[in-house]
Amino acid sequence: MMWKEKYKVGVPLIDEQHKELFKRLSEFIQVVQSKIPWEEKLESVRETMLFMKEYVIIHFEAEEAYQEKIKYPGIERHREVHAAFKEEVNSYVTLFEQKGLSEEKAQEFSAKLMTWLIMHVCQMDQKIGEYVENKGGEIQ
Ligand SMILES: [Fe+2]
Repeated sequence: MMWKEKYKVGVPLIDEQHKELFKRLSEFIQVVQSKIPWEEKLESVRETMLFMKEYVIIHFEAEEAYQEKIKYPGIERHREVHAAFKEEVNSYVTLFEQKGLSEEKAQEFSAKLMTWLIMHVCQMDQKIGEYVENKGGEIQ
């Protein structure tokens, strides 16, 4: 499991969803890097990609709704970053659906997801938690 305590934002719903994302992503990386033939990984790769496409939307919407609720000042910028990433995920999924995905592209996708997720959770998402803390605790 790639989840670390320092990823915690302090908002239970967001943290639970982040944990789920990290869990699925580490499973995905394990499959992609395993030694079994690519054709045998395909079904699992497909399943994870579709999951990511849907779950990223669910998670971003929940996180944005929360920011709205607490009147978080950085919401517009956060929305833009989410939207750009959603597009990137979608472009990989579309590529996968239309042409199939090479093993190389699947590796590229998993590496990008991981880098993005860690950076985003450690930087932008942490600021949500800091804002809540400065406001005097949990706003739910
Ligand atoms: Fe976020």
